[in-house]
Amino acid sequence: MKKVFVFSTLLLAFLFLGFKAGKSQKKAKYSDFETPQSCGQCHKEIYTEWKQTMMAQAYTHHWDEIEYFKLAVPHSERDEFFKEAVEGCNGCHTPIAYFVGDRNPKPPSSGTRANESVSCEVCHTISGFQGKEPFNFNYILNPGRIKYGPREGVKSPYHDTVKSDFIQKPEFCATCHNEKNPFGTWVKTTYFEWKEGPYSKEGVRCQDCHMWKGRGIPAVMSKEVADMRHHSFPGGHVMAKIRGAIELKVYSDRPEYEPGDEAKITVLLYNAKAGHKLPTGSVEDRQLWVEVHAIDSSGKRYILPVDRKGFKGEEYTITSNELAYQDLGEMLGIKDFKGLPRDDLEEGHRIYRIAFLDPKGRMTIAQWNTKTLGVDYRIGPRETKVETYTWKIPDDIAPGKVRIEVRVLYRLLVSSVAKFLKVPEDEYKTREINSATATFEIIE
Ligand code: HEC
Ligand code: HEC
Ligand code: HEC
Ligand code: HEC
Ligand code: HEC
Repeated sequence: MKKVFVFSTLLLAFLFLGFKAGKSQKKAKYSDFETPQSCGQCHKEIYTEWKQTMMAQAYTHHWDEIEYFKLAVPHSERDEFFKEAVEGCNGCHTPIAYFVGDRNPKPPSSGTRANESVSCEVCHTISGFQGKEPFNFNYILNPGRIKYGPREGVKSPYHDTVKSDFIQKPEFCATCHNEKNPFGTWVKTTYFEWKEGPYSKEGVRCQDCHMWKGRGIPAVMSKEVADMRHHSFPGGHVMAKIRGAIELKVYSDRPEYEPGDEAKITVLLYNAKAGHKLPTGSVEDRQLWVEVHAIDSSGKRYILPVDRKGFKGEEYTITSNELAYQDLGEMLGIKDFKGLPRDDLEEGHRIYRIAFLDPKGRMTIAQWNTKTLGVDYRIGPRETKVETYTWKIPDDIAPGKVRIEVRVLYRLLVSSVAKFLKVPEDEYKTREINSATATFEIIE
C-alpha cells in the first residue's frame, strides 16, 4: 500500500514537473541542450541521415522561412489575435528555441541555435505528452543526461539511456503532426487519419513506414545491428516515397466508338502506400491531382474534364484558376490585393484536397488564418476513388487508335503563390506519382 502511494506521488510530482517544464520558458537555457553535431560524433550514421531530412530543416528551409518571416510574423504584428499561434510555429519547427523562451527567433541567416530545428535532443528527451490528445507540441521535454530510446539495457559512455515506450508510439509523432489553430480548426490531422484508418488496427506505426529497420551502426563504438531504426523520415519531398503511392487503373466502356459517340472512361485511384490520407500534413499547400487526356491517331490532344459528382463543395475539388489567396494582401500590407490563380493548372481536372478558408470564406494557404474547412475530398489509406469522364467524341476526330493518358501529379506548394513569394522553383515543381494509359479504336 505504502509503495503504491510513494510511486503515485512520485508519478504525480513527475507529471507536475513535466507540465511546469513545458509551460515555463525561463527555466531551461540553450546550454541545457546539446547540439546535433555533438550527438553526431558517435551516432555518425544516424546524424548523416537526419541531416538530410525535412525535420532537420524545419526552421531553415526556404519555404518555411518565407512563410514564417514574410507572412506569419508580419500578420501577427498587425493582428494581436495571431500572436500566440505564430510564436507557436516554433513549438514544432524549432522546439528547443520555443522551450527556452526564444519565441521570436532570428532568421536562419543569423546562425542561432534555432536553426537546429527538430534535432536529436528534441526527440530523445521527450518522455510523454500533457493532456488527453497529442497535438500542438504538447510533448514533455526533459533536458538532461537521460536519452530516451527504443531499446532495453543499452549502454553509452556519454549519457544515460532509458527505454521509452512512448518514443515508439505514433502519439509521439502526433504531438507535432496534429495541429489545431487559434480558430479551433484542425489544420493538421495526420495522426487522426492514421488512427481512423486500417494501419492502426494492424499495428503499423508511423515509425514503421518513415524509419525503416535495417542494417546499421547505432554508434561508432557499438557493433553493427541488423535492425537499426534509420532516421530517413522520407515524406512528400522524397520522390522515392511518393512514387507509386497511388495505384492507377483506367479503362473505357467499349473497345470501339464512332465519331459523335459518347465514351465513358473510368479511372480508379488507390492509396496503396500511405498510412494516412493523401495528401496529408500541410494540406493547405499541397496539390494532388489527376489529369486525363485523349490523343488521336493524328496526335491531336484533348482534355477530358472530370464528371461532376454533385457533392457539396465540389467546386474546390476541380482545378480552377479563379482568384484566391486574397488574404496575402492583409499579411503583406498590400491594399485591395486581387489574389492569385487558385490552382495555376489546366482547368477541369480532379484535385484531391480540403479547401482551407479564411474568415471571409476565401481560399488561403495560411493555416493560422483558416477559419473553416471545405469538403474533405482526399484519398484515405487503402481507399479507392473512382472518377469518370464522359467524352463526346468529336465528329472530326482522326480514325484509328485513341490513347487515353492518365497522370497523377503532385506539387508541394501552389505554384502561383510560390512564384509570387519567390520560393525557389525546386520546392514547387510538379512531380509524377503515377501514370497509366488505355486505348480504343475510332471506326467510321
Ligand atoms: C561518446 C559517444 C556518444 C555520444 C556523444 C552520444 N551518444 Fe548516444 N549512444 C552512444 C552509444 C555507444 C550508445 C549505445 C548504442 C547501442 O549499442 O545500441 C548510444 C545510444 C543512444 C540511444 C539509443 C538508446 C536505445 O534505446 O537504443 C539514443 C536515443 C542516444 N544514444 C541519443 C543520443 C543523443 C541525443 C546524443 C546527443 C545529445 C547522443 N546520444 C550522444 C554513444 C554516444
Ligand atoms: C517536435 C515536433 C515533431 C515531432 C515529435 C515529429 N515531427 Fe515530423 N515534422 C515536424 C515538422 C515541423 C516537420 C516539417 C518540416 C518542414 O518544415 O518541412 C516535420 C516533417 C516530417 C516529415 C517530412 C514531411 C515532408 O513534407 O517531406 C516526415 C515524414 C515526418 N515529419 C515524420 C515524423 C514521424 C514519423 C515522427 C515520429 C517518429 C515525427 N515526424 C515526429 C515536427 C515533428
Ligand atoms: C523526429 C524525432 C527524432 C529525431 C529528430 C531523432 N530521432 Fe532518434 N529515434 C527516434 C525514434 C522514434 C526512434 C525509435 C524508433 C522505433 O524503434 O520505433 C529513434 C531511435 C534512435 C536510436 C536507436 C536506434 C536503434 O535502432 O538502435 C538512436 C541511437 C537514435 N535514435 C539517435 C538519434 C540521433 C543521434 C539523432 C540526431 C542526429 C536522432 N536520433 C534524431 C526519433 C528521432
Ligand atoms: C503504411 C505506411 C505509412 C504509415 C503507417 C504512415 N505513413 Fe506517412 N507517408 C507514407 C507515404 C507512402 C507517404 C508519401 C506520400 C505523401 O507524401 O503524401 C507519406 C507521407 C507523409 C508525410 C508527408 C506528407 C506531404 O506530402 O507533405 C508526413 C508528414 C507523414 N507521412 C507523417 C506520418 C505520420 C505522423 C504517421 C503516423 C501517424 C504516418 N506518416 C504513418 C506512408 C506511411
Ligand atoms: C503542431 C505542430 C506545428 C505547428 C504549431 C506549426 N507547424 Fe508547420 N508543420 C508542421 C508539420 C508536422 C509539418 C509537415 C507536414 C507535411 O510535410 O505535410 C509542417 C509544415 C509546414 C510548412 C511546409 C513545409 C514544407 O516542407 O513544405 C510550412 C511552411 C510551415 N509548416 C509553417 C508553419 C508556420 C508559419 C506555423 C505557425 C503559424 C506553423 N508551421 C505551425 C508542424 C507544425
